[in-house]
Amino acid sequence: MAVYLDNAATTPIAPEVVEAMIPVLRDGFGNPSSTHSFGRKAKALIETSRRSIAKHLNCQPAEIIFTSGGTEADNMAINSSVHKMGVTHIITSALEHHAVGHTAENIKNIDGVKLSYVKVDSNGNVDLTDLERLLQEDGKALVSLMHANNEIATLLPIKEVSVLCRRYGALFHSDTVQTMAHYAFDLAELDIDFITCAAHKFHGPKGSGFLYVNKKVALESLIHGGAQERGLRGGTENVAGIVGLAKAMDLAYEDVEGHQKHVQGLKTHMINELKSFFDDVDFHGEISPEKSLYTVLNVCFPKTDKASMLLFTLDLKGIAVSGGSACSSGASVGSHVLTGIGADMTRPNARFSFSRYTTKEEIDFALEQVKTVFEKTLV
Ligand SMILES: Cc1ncc(COP(=O)(O)O)c(C=O)c1O
Repeated sequence: MAVYLDNAATTPIAPEVVEAMIPVLRDGFGNPSSTHSFGRKAKALIETSRRSIAKHLNCQPAEIIFTSGGTEADNMAINSSVHKMGVTHIITSALEHHAVGHTAENIKNIDGVKLSYVKVDSNGNVDLTDLERLLQEDGKALVSLMHANNEIATLLPIKEVSVLCRRYGALFHSDTVQTMAHYAFDLAELDIDFITCAAHKFHGPKGSGFLYVNKKVALESLIHGGAQERGLRGGTENVAGIVGLAKAMDLAYEDVEGHQKHVQGLKTHMINELKSFFDDVDFHGEISPEKSLYTVLNVCFPKTDKASMLLFTLDLKGIAVSGGSACSSGASVGSHVLTGIGADMTRPNARFSFSRYTTKEEIDFALEQVKTVFEKTLV
C-alpha cells in the first residue's frame, strides 16, 4: 500500500479537473490575444474562470490576476507595494514561506527598504502587541504574514491583523496558498490588499494560480511583455491551467465544510493515536481546530537512534511525508520555521498533510508503519 500524506507540498489533481482541462488542451488552443474566433474562444474561457473565482471570493473579477502560482503572486504583491504604493517598511515574520521571506530580503537589499520581523511564540503565533509596536514606526508599511503556516499549520487571526493594519494605514498581504479553497473567504468583508493562490494545493494543476489585488491598490508588472492581464502580467496565458484552477475551486467550495470535517476528523484521530502510543510525542505549532490548518500535522517524535532515517524508512514502507529538520529530511539546511519557533532539532519530526481524498484506512496504515519504526528504535 502506498499512502500519500504530503498534500501541503502538492495534491493529486482531481479527475473532474482533468476532464475540464482536456478539451481546452485539445481544442481550445487559440491564443487569447488573437482577435479571430479561436482566440476569442480561449479568451472567453479565461474570463469565465476569472468571474467564477471572483464569485467564490466575493470580489470583483478585475481584482484577480492570473499567475504561474503562489511564488509569483507573492513576489508581485511585495514588489508592487514598494514600487507602486510607496512602502518603505516591510513587516513580516521569520516563519514565512521563502516566496515571501526571500522576496522581502531581496527588495530590502535592492531598494533599501526597512525590514522588520514580528515576534512569534513557540507555536508560531504572531505577537500582535509587537506587530502594533512595529506598525507605529516611521514609514509606510506593508505587513506580509501568511494565513496558515505550511510546515506547522498555525493559523493567523487574519481579520484581527487586517483591522490593525487599517488602523495604522499599512498595506496587508497574506500568503493564503495553504488556505485558499480550504476555508471560505469573503473579500468584501475581509479588508485586505493582497492574497495569493496556487491551484496545485487544492487538486488543481501545477503552474497556475493568481494574485488577488484590492482595487484600491496599484500593481507593478513583474513580467514585462504583452498586454495580457491588462498589461500587468505579460505572456500568453495558461488557458487550460486557468480553467483547471477554476474547476478545482468550484469542487472545493461545493462542500468546503464537509471536506474540513472529514480531514479534521482524520487529523484528530492521528493526534489521539500518537498520544496513546507514545509517552512523549509532541506537535510543532498549534493543533486545535480553531488555531491550526486542518490539513497539516507536524509531529515531533521521541528521540530515536534512527532519527535521521525516519522519513527514509517511512518512504520504504510506502508512506510519503515531509520533514522539516535537517536530521529528518536529509536536507543540507534545516527548516527555518522549526528554527524560528526554537524547536528541539535533536528530535525527529515529520509533517503529515492530508486532503479530502485521504481515508481513515490510509491513516491507520501510516500509524502502523510509524509504530513499527519506533517500536524497534526507541532509546
Ligand atoms: C505557504 C506557501 N506559499 C507559497 C508557496 C509557493 O507556491 P507555488 O509552488 O505555487 O509557487 C507554497 C508552496 O509550497 C506555500 O506552501
